[in-house]
Amino acid sequence: MQEKKTFYITTPIYYPSGNMHVGHTYTTVAADTMTRFKRLTGYDTYFLTGTDEHGQKIEKKALEAGVTPIQYVDKIVAETKELWKLMDIEYDDFIRTTEDRHMKIVQKIFRQFYDQGDIYKAEYEGMYCTPCESFWTSTQLVEKDGVKVCPDCGRPCQPMKEESYFFRMSKYQDWMIEYIESHPEFIQPAARANEMINNFLKPGLQDLCVSRTSVKWGVPVDFDPKHTVYVWIDALSNYITALGYGTDHDELFRKYWPADVHLVGKEIVRFHTIYWPIMLHALGLPLPKQVFGHGWLLFGTDKMSKSKGNIVYPGPIVERYGVDALRYYLMREMPFGADGNYTNESFLTRTNADLANDLGNLVSRTVAMIEKYFDGVMPAWDPAGFVAEEDKPLQDHCAQLPALVEAQMDKLQFSQALTEIWKVIGECNKYIDLTQPWILGKDPEKKARLTDVLLNLAECVRFVAVLIGPFMPKTPARIFEQLGLTDDSLKTWESLDCFGRLPDGIKVHKGDALFPRIDIKKDLEILSGGKAESAPAPKKEEKKPEAKKAEQKAEEAQPAGEITIDDFAKIQLRTAKVVACEKVQKSDKLLRFTLDLGNGETRTVFSGIAKAYTEPEKLVGRTLILLSNLKPRKMMGELSQGMLLSALDEGTGTLRLLTVDQADDVAPGSEVG
Ligand code: MSP
Repeated sequence: MQEKKTFYITTPIYYPSGNMHVGHTYTTVAADTMTRFKRLTGYDTYFLTGTDEHGQKIEKKALEAGVTPIQYVDKIVAETKELWKLMDIEYDDFIRTTEDRHMKIVQKIFRQFYDQGDIYKAEYEGMYCTPCESFWTSTQLVEKDGVKVCPDCGRPCQPMKEESYFFRMSKYQDWMIEYIESHPEFIQPAARANEMINNFLKPGLQDLCVSRTSVKWGVPVDFDPKHTVYVWIDALSNYITALGYGTDHDELFRKYWPADVHLVGKEIVRFHTIYWPIMLHALGLPLPKQVFGHGWLLFGTDKMSKSKGNIVYPGPIVERYGVDALRYYLMREMPFGADGNYTNESFLTRTNADLANDLGNLVSRTVAMIEKYFDGVMPAWDPAGFVAEEDKPLQDHCAQLPALVEAQMDKLQFSQALTEIWKVIGECNKYIDLTQPWILGKDPEKKARLTDVLLNLAECVRFVAVLIGPFMPKTPARIFEQLGLTDDSLKTWESLDCFGRLPDGIKVHKGDALFPRIDIKKDLEILSGGKAESAPAPKKEEKKPEAKKAEQKAEEAQPAGEITIDDFAKIQLRTAKVVACEKVQKSDKLLRFTLDLGNGETRTVFSGIAKAYTEPEKLVGRTLILLSNLKPRKMMGELSQGMLLSALDEGTGTLRLLTVDQADDVAPGSEVG
């Protein structure tokens, strides 16, 4: 038997610094859809995803949460896997950069680069922020009151030198340009290739700093363990370490490498099309056949992102509308490569128009008419193979549909592939209006014609059900069930080789609507109130336990207004005892507080409440509530390190500081939450 062709696809490995949202889901659904499509069309597929767990950010998050980094990421990884299950993502492997199998090979790769002279040791010079343990270049610093400060915390930085290893990227610059120019399919969409060449390669490729002594949470350089490997060298290697590269068990690597496509968001195309190819080339390995940089799901004009907090989570949407509706929307709404806006309104509108109306009605009308006019039993095709003129365009179009879909999928044009399928659905619905089966059904003489019409529709429905499978994995079985089709060999890609294979004698069953119609106005209110879970769902399907779980952690469908417990966890509130408090001269609003936060920590905080407290010295000894992790801000020539909470009665204008009920029982610096 001939060996199947292989297809290896990857997603970026995501940072488990917070829960995955609709943006990460977008790439992962695309990779899953592509894998399912390739599997349908006869490929031996391999789909890799995972998490990128090292680095300072994770270390810091764990510290804030009061757990170890590995405890922190373990929890998020478990939740990520739950989410992928909920989204019907079927990956072959989930790689974590903290796994031994990965770390060992990263060390080996790093050593090989060093041994062959691609990596050298030198000094890295930059500005250093001590509290954040971060190096910044002068262009990264931000100016505040004439001083260049850390872009993260706003505190001043000092010039610093750090011993580092550097990768000789510059050596490969010309080779890289040549490669990109001579392999136009390598970077897609093509415009991104120009961007790489013009913005990054032609201006000159700098050697890359590939180790850190200041970051502890990483892969140690085995021959110089005070250094850890730079996160991108660590992360990019996942695409081969997961396949067993560099081990005695490298069968998967030999079978699947080079990858057919790395799917990535456009912001990380540079790492995948410059650093990664250079690393591979230096290792003497072939490059991935393609890197596809897709666009962003925007929320308004912003990229949806953890750090911006404008996040939509899939859990409640899946719970209410089903996983297939969300997968369909993500793949249909915007061309792969372009940015697009996520809005609840466009999601609901599309679900109603395309799924409830176009697809849902076609299936339910077809099945209902077979029930009504043929007692629910599929009639037989004309034994002589006669096809009426009126039927030819629909039959031909449907017969060509698999090829039309495949052509789009080969370009990763998910939205276009769906458009092709929906054109046939649209044509079927028009065909019903044209042939008017309800009129044919009244005249016993027209039974043969009615048979043709309903068979054509049912066969189109079979084609559609097979072809939407990669996008919407749950829906085909529901359609086949309604058609009464049990023969699995008629649910395959191969069975779409000709039109007219639908068998007679099968018994159709009219079931629930595939996608119940949504009252958009009502649901918009529910979604924007974040109350998706409390409203009765329009779906009759049973609640899935995974959906419930994801909903619990998640969260809300729309960020407006409500926040999650995770959002609240970002805010650090502590008790603070007033040591001194005085009016600031030259300001009629400000009071200057000296606060005791316990364990020898004191802070200066300015608060604009002077008008409410005309005798500030009376506040000494009181225990107040301080927002303690607010970015420090320079006020009156001094840093104000936090914000005191107060309540304002808008009716009377009275303003009062928040205090602790029994202050004597609570030590200064205690956590409030
Ligand atoms: N860890 C790196 C990737 C290393 S790959 C060797 C990383 N992680 S990430 O958690 O920030 O994930 C970024 C990726 O998530 C994007 O490239 C994209 O695939 C996906 N997306 C995250 N937010 C997204 C949107 N708002 N829109 C579309 N995709 C988004 O970068």
